[in-house]
Amino acid sequence: MRSRQPAGDVVTETETNWSAYYRHTAGREPRPLFQRGIAALDAAGATPGDAIEIGFGDGTETLELLARGWHVTAIDPTPEAAAGLREKASGNLSEGLSIVTAAAQGADLSPFDLLYAGYALSFIPPEVFAAFWERVRAALGPGGWLVFNVFGVKDTWASDPLMTFLDRAQAEALVAGLEVVVFDEQDEDGNSFVGPKHWHLFDVVARAPR
Ligand SMILES: C[S@@+](CC[C@H](N)C(=O)[O-])C[C@H]1O[C@@H](n2cnc3c(N)ncnc32)[C@H](O)[C@@H]1O
Repeated sequence: MRSRQPAGDVVTETETNWSAYYRHTAGREPRPLFQRGIAALDAAGATPGDAIEIGFGDGTETLELLARGWHVTAIDPTPEAAAGLREKASGNLSEGLSIVTAAAQGADLSPFDLLYAGYALSFIPPEVFAAFWERVRAALGPGGWLVFNVFGVKDTWASDPLMTFLDRAQAEALVAGLEVVVFDEQDEDGNSFVGPKHWHLFDVVARAPR
């Protein structure tokens, strides 16, 4: 299990695992990037369809999509994430939910209308990232949406050989041929779950042609 997780306040070093991270993030609001993505979809008059969330963690965004009427395939390799989401998605919400406990690079990707991935894509190793993204682009339906962030090469964690870090041109290439609605670069010192770090991150919202 990885020992470094982003986005949040500092907790003790001994608590650095995904379960501790989920406890730490439980009850949070949907991420600002997710909210921007939903606002873009709403502005475009998008109706609920099939969504995929990669690395759903505590499940906040998947639950929000389910509440909005989307069918969601929620993919995360950590069993504790699945258990937590199953518990939270009770009653009607569970009807549209399919949970896949697997690394995204090994999971089937059915055709989708929306893919959301917050603070998760960079945990896909660099040697399989390009092939994974090819499958994402192949499964993206006409008029479908990509809402994701990915770490940049100036990030504090960029020396981790198991993670993927992109420069701006590489991040832009992920959405080549799409209508890019948001492309923001964060490049600043800040805090993380495990302490201060430099954040280099690309926030992206993009839409496929119809
Ligand atoms: C930093 S957490 C982000 C969780 C949530 N999206 C959020 O914003 O709080 C990263 C998540 O990615 C998952 N993850 C790690 N490697 C992954 C992979 N190869 N494919 C998909 N998810 C992965 C972890 O289990 C974890 O739940």
